[in-house]
Amino acid sequence: MLSEFKLAPSILSADFSDLKGALNICDEGGADWIHVDVMDNQFVPNLTIGPPVVKSLRKNTEKFIDVHMMVINPENLVEPFARAGADNITFHIEATDNPDEVIDLIRGTGKMVGISLKPSTPFSEIKPYLDKVDLVLVMSVEPGFGGQGYIEGSTARIMEIKKYLKDNCLERVQIQVDGGIKLHNANEVISAGGDILVAGSEVFGSENPQKVIKDFYANAKSTVSI
Ligand code: DX5
Ligand code: ZN
Repeated sequence: MLSEFKLAPSILSADFSDLKGALNICDEGGADWIHVDVMDNQFVPNLTIGPPVVKSLRKNTEKFIDVHMMVINPENLVEPFARAGADNITFHIEATDNPDEVIDLIRGTGKMVGISLKPSTPFSEIKPYLDKVDLVLVMSVEPGFGGQGYIEGSTARIMEIKKYLKDNCLERVQIQVDGGIKLHNANEVISAGGDILVAGSEVFGSENPQKVIKDFYANAKSTVSI
């Protein structure tokens, strides 16, 4: 059996005219977190969700709301997302000149703090901040869109980060992996050290999304790790 992991379905691939339905799917499937992709059409070439939508989600679910900010000047949005009801707020290292300030702002709201890096950003860029965050979001696709293919080199990167965290007594920092996660590669990602898996199109692009969520957990349980 593989180690415990959390599944965070990304509502980016859900029907935006029926977000309550998406929350129900996550409930029925037994998902752990709800992953919310925030895009500003500047940091990434797409435009999605802001604090008012998170506020509505908050009214309709007890689940942990995980906000992934793909925006420049993330410091401006920390307080609004915290007030809207986010439980974790993740920002991108590439999006700010002052990561310490963003981390302190998120920490000040009492929410969990996440730091993310694009596939091409060296891991060394986030090392100075790891002792101040709760999770590292490893992008396994170029941020901006759902439905892309998993970048194979991501598995080695997850292993490298996991080892670094262990060697530096930072095992409390969780690794979240986002992009191209499917039923067929989930176990590879978990074995490499992924603690929280984000899955968008695999869940919401399916005819039976509740079953896909359940299958993620069942597959991991049925796998014997060596
Ligand atoms: C991409 C987003 C992802 C996206 C994942 O920028 O951060 O969360 O929704 O979608 P899939 O699982 O389809 O790659
Ligand atoms: Zn995301």
